[in-house]
Amino acid sequence: MKVLVTGGAGYIGSVTATALEQGGHTPIVLDSLISGPAAYVRDRIFYEGDVADRALLTRIVAEHPDLECTIHMAARVVVGESVAMRYAYYHDNLVKSLELFDQLQQLERPRVVFSSSASVYAEVPSLEVHEDSPTAPGSPYARTKRMMEMVLQDLAAATPLRALILRYFNPIGADPELRHGIHVREPSHVLGQLVLAAQGRRDAFEITGTDYPTRDGTGLRDYIHVWDLALAHVCAVERFDEVLAAVGEPSVIINVGTGAGVTVRELVGVVESVLGQPVPVREAPRRPGDVAGAYANVDRARKLLGWTARSSVRDGVESAFRWAERRRHVLGYE
Ligand SMILES: NC(=O)c1ccc[n+]([C@@H]2O[C@H](COP(=O)([O-])OP(=O)(O)OC[C@H]3O[C@@H](n4cnc5c(N)ncnc54)[C@H](O)[C@@H]3O)[C@@H](O)[C@H]2O)c1
Repeated sequence: MKVLVTGGAGYIGSVTATALEQGGHTPIVLDSLISGPAAYVRDRIFYEGDVADRALLTRIVAEHPDLECTIHMAARVVVGESVAMRYAYYHDNLVKSLELFDQLQQLERPRVVFSSSASVYAEVPSLEVHEDSPTAPGSPYARTKRMMEMVLQDLAAATPLRALILRYFNPIGADPELRHGIHVREPSHVLGQLVLAAQGRRDAFEITGTDYPTRDGTGLRDYIHVWDLALAHVCAVERFDEVLAAVGEPSVIINVGTGAGVTVRELVGVVESVLGQPVPVREAPRRPGDVAGAYANVDRARKLLGWTARSSVRDGVESAFRWAERRRHVLGYE
């Protein structure tokens, strides 16, 4: 099966393209390289350009008339930046996605798998969220994701467009052969910061918030190995029509997580055990806007996609450290 992967030069897109190849499919990558590195598309069918470029999409479909599905991952993805650059985030994530979906529909390529995010959820006391849990996206970035989910649901209700909306939890690690992984120089998320502290490039890892309503007071996330996340996309494209037939709807939202939460303190423990040495840690108050976190209820993914995450958080952490070494060769920086 040929699958268009927008954002296929990015972290998750490049790993997903590898998983598609291993599943016997052919990824066609469309990426503007606004953040993804050119090194990630060297061995792939690749179109450099914008998802809103209708003429380019027409050309891609003309050159690949057997294109069966689109995985739309291209987006601006940095939460903090979205606060400072609201216009760019709403424009790129909303307006451009809308152009893409309309053009796909006009080109009679109606199957869309959309990358959404667990950041759309409101905090719930149990910390476990299922797809019908309340939403309260806390940043312009998360709002673009929630808005696009609603746009897709509306389009699918009235047009031939069909959508599987995947809400990713917290991807970590790289593909098993260490071909692609995180490309951002200094990742701002928890594991990225832990890697920097463990490498001695930070004096200490800062635990921000120790009074959350979790097991040990620190924030909790559902860390999913990016390879498991990539495999969920393979299931999604392979079962696309089956999934929607099973729910009897033109679109559906599916959580993609492990189904288990890990606190920041627990993650520090995993990192220390992988490295066999302590990581310097400093405790600090909560930062404004931070939340206790959430973990996924994954019943729907299991039932509809026939997929569950197989790797442990330790596997993901090991992979992240191996990638931190390896990426010097792939990307030319630490
Ligand atoms: N990484 C996470 O923690 C996470 C969590 C939940 C959801 N997601 C979603 O997963 C998707 C992929 O995220 P990622 O972490 O791989 O980010 P990334 O920045 O590595 O990848 C995004 C890719 O999209 C490309 N791109 C951006 N705008 C484009 C445009 N207008 N036209 C063409 N290409 C464009 C970028 O060049 C980049 O290669 C995003 O939609 C993101 O919102 C990511």
